Amino acid sequence: MQARTAATSGDDFDQLARDAVYRAMFTRRDVRSHFVADDLDDGVLARLLTAAHHAPSVGYMQPWNFIVIRDAARRRQVRDLFLAAREQELPAIEAERQALYRKLKLEGICESALNLCITCDRQRSKNSPLGRWHNPEMDLYSTVCAVQNFWLAARAEGVGVGWVSIIETEALKRLLSIPEHVTPIAYLCVGRVSEFAPRPDLEAHGWGKRLPLPELVMSETFCGAGEAPLKSAIAALENGRSRDQSAVVEAADQAALGESQREPPKEPSALSRSSLNFDEASASRRSQSGFGTWPSMVSK
Ligand SMILES: Cc1cc2nc3c(=O)[nH]c(=O)nc-3n(C[C@H](O)[C@H](O)[C@H](O)COP(=O)(O)O)c2cc1C
Repeated sequence: MQARTAATSGDDFDQLARDAVYRAMFTRRDVRSHFVADDLDDGVLARLLTAAHHAPSVGYMQPWNFIVIRDAARRRQVRDLFLAAREQELPAIEAERQALYRKLKLEGICESALNLCITCDRQRSKNSPLGRWHNPEMDLYSTVCAVQNFWLAARAEGVGVGWVSIIETEALKRLLSIPEHVTPIAYLCVGRVSEFAPRPDLEAHGWGKRLPLPELVMSETFCGAGEAPLKSAIAALENGRSRDQSAVVEAADQAALGESQREPPKEPSALSRSSLNFDEASASRRSQSGFGTWPSMVSK
């Protein structure tokens, strides 16, 4: 990575701030199984929504709305929509993966503190479609940026988020009285969690693996093989990160094994395994070995 030459505007992130941003990205998880019963404080929810509202949007359109859903009966109805949609999706899954698909937990609609539907109002800038005349779908992408802001801010606040897309859109619109010109983009389960898993659930269950980034980077055109030095730099980072991650996964597995061999605690702590995430494990090894975490190394 090239040395930084000059401060740009005097508000550069220092190393701690950079680490925190990367930490939120690398330890964010889609959460379905680890919600705890605690309510989510309105002050925290306000911060998450404000983060979402500061997402970029085409033509500064800000096409989003945020429907906060707490009512248990309504949530059960949404869950019924999920169950029906999952049955409809099942035949499209390869035959040999259908049993695993059925076992996967793919939502936390009723267990989470609340649900949030983030929508896109497709008519919000209908008279001045700056940036959308050729590409009208840019409003949808803008709303996805708001979802990601919400998700990362939630991770930083220790709040879990799980995205449920296995729902028939028109049925959801009817249930939530969403008008015709508004598209639901994300149905999210949101709440305090007992832990953030060290790797994606679908990876842990053998459904998929993270693709090697060097193979996804091209040069100049879609056919370009990619710049060799850049690919090597990425590969070096990936190797460091996957070593960190394996150590965390191993630590989590060891902890789980230890727990199963020990007497069950009288009052299990909801946060008992929350420290087993990428940062704390790697930070502890860093202090033992003198090496930096991935984010520290990247800026050197
Ligand atoms: C657009 C979108 C839709 C998703 N829909 C679902 C879903 O219906 N059910 C589910 O369990 N996870 C869903 N996910 C979560 C992905 O499975 C998850 O992001 C992926 O496995 C990687 O895991 P991670 O988010 O923990 O890194 C969705 C994610 C995105 C971005």
